[in-house]
Amino acid sequence: MIKEVIIGSVRRATTNLFKKINSEFQETLIEKSSNSQFGDYAVNVAFGLAKELGKSPQIIAQALAGEINKSKPEKIERVEAVGGYVNFFLSVGFIRNQLAEIYKKRDSFGRSNLAKGKKIIVEYSQPNIAKPMHVGHLRTTILGDALANIYETLGYKVIRWNYIGDWGTQFGKLIAAYKLWGDKKEVERDPIPALVGLYVKFHEEIKKHPELDHRGQEEFKKLEDGDKENQKLWRWFKKESLKEFERMYGLLGIKFDLTTGESFFEGDLRPLVSDLMKRGIAEPGEGGAIIIKLDRFDLPPALIRKSDGASLYLTRDIASLKYRIKKYEPEKVLYIVDNGQSLHFQQLAAIAEILEFKLGPEHVRYGLILGENKKKLATREGRAILFEDLVSQAIELAEKIVADKRPDASEKEKTEIARTVALGALKYEILKEHRNSDIVFDWKRMLDFRGNSAPYLQYTYARLSSILARAGRVGRIDFNTLGEVMELSIIKHLINFPDTIADSAKMYLTNNLALYLYELANLTNRFYEKTSIIKDENESRRNARLALISTTASILKSGLGLLGISVLEKI
Ligand code: ARG
Repeated sequence: MIKEVIIGSVRRATTNLFKKINSEFQETLIEKSSNSQFGDYAVNVAFGLAKELGKSPQIIAQALAGEINKSKPEKIERVEAVGGYVNFFLSVGFIRNQLAEIYKKRDSFGRSNLAKGKKIIVEYSQPNIAKPMHVGHLRTTILGDALANIYETLGYKVIRWNYIGDWGTQFGKLIAAYKLWGDKKEVERDPIPALVGLYVKFHEEIKKHPELDHRGQEEFKKLEDGDKENQKLWRWFKKESLKEFERMYGLLGIKFDLTTGESFFEGDLRPLVSDLMKRGIAEPGEGGAIIIKLDRFDLPPALIRKSDGASLYLTRDIASLKYRIKKYEPEKVLYIVDNGQSLHFQQLAAIAEILEFKLGPEHVRYGLILGENKKKLATREGRAILFEDLVSQAIELAEKIVADKRPDASEKEKTEIARTVALGALKYEILKEHRNSDIVFDWKRMLDFRGNSAPYLQYTYARLSSILARAGRVGRIDFNTLGEVMELSIIKHLINFPDTIADSAKMYLTNNLALYLYELANLTNRFYEKTSIIKDENESRRNARLALISTTASILKSGLGLLGISVLEKI
């Protein structure tokens, strides 16, 4: 990859010139905007060396540029020092060759098998049984799916894991409530609201009848002890809830390899806790609880068993991490879970270290999704907006836009366009933000065909497809006919696709990939608005330009595909 070539030549020049430097220097490679006079890439190494060598960054940069120019690789046209930066200009021949290569591979460009044989577990979505999926679950579902796609494209064997919340004392309460007031038909008709209703009623009644609390505990105990009736109810609640979740996943095109939730680890907990006690890692806490002290990590003690003997979320996570490592031998285990659970994952990481697990949890945290007034997303009646509401609202809005834009389309086509655009818009809105930032939802922006949005990218793709369809078969291509600034800018951008994917994987980010695609669309739109392509009289240049457009279209499609977003040939 080109970045390695550049960094490699900087390293060589640095050691050649300044043999005596002893501290590790840091260099960062910066991509310059493509038509800038400052080259295509810049390296800032001179700033770091200036202090140590007692010279100005510009003098050092000049020396480095001179040294690199002496024996620069063919891919580099020239190197210049400006303002302390070492600027690299790619050679036109290299750029054209790159396009020829990328064009050949276009549908698989960016894919690699560097990570072949390596496994990674990506845990995402994780809704809770008998509760609706809220907007936070939408963010983990979409982010997790995209990261899983990105790892897959790098050759990893990805285990997509939906760790559902299907265990805990709340199920005792739910069973108690169902036995008191439940109606089978109602649960079957609309399972999640019916179950939520029962749970809420239980909490209201408890205020008047405190003895209910005990009843909930008893039912949970019975469930834990394998009571047939309670087990059957619990399994039924789970089945009905999963049906609902599946419906959402189907709509969003989300898949999992495993839907294995907290209950799966229940059997491991007793032996785990007693082993930890025996080894002196866990100790008795207040009132018969069991804790692990984490003072040396500067963390509050972790509660792993409650005083009433009930197991906990954290204990299940310890057992589950242990199982994941042993069973799959993954390189990493990612948990796509909101910022709010940071302490939980810090404690889990500390415990993994104490227990000398081969790996710790990699908490890929993310921020909130807020309404337009920066408050919690709510319906007009003030009810919190759920996952499903958002999806249907997006589809509804897109339907209106499509009806306006494409009155000619058949009903079937309209539905398909509206869905693809709506889901794309929703996913892109989430993925284009840095995952640590809060997202303020803005429907207008999200669905704007001219903004930084999925519809804009989908529209660009459809436009390119239609040019390619009109052009028909592409004959002999001469890439040497390309050389205009705009053409070279697009190619230089295309070259960065593999690096962009690698960066996403390294930092668990998607915003860089989204921005990459947006810039690619901008460059290409500008190009074909200003250039006649199909009508170009120079046959081999026409073909080369069509090849360029066809490559861009392919990269847009695969890049959006990594984000879980589909394209349309016609919008
Ligand atoms: N079900 C939990 C929730 O909705 C998230 C689970 C996160 N994963 C984990 N391994 N703890 O808040």
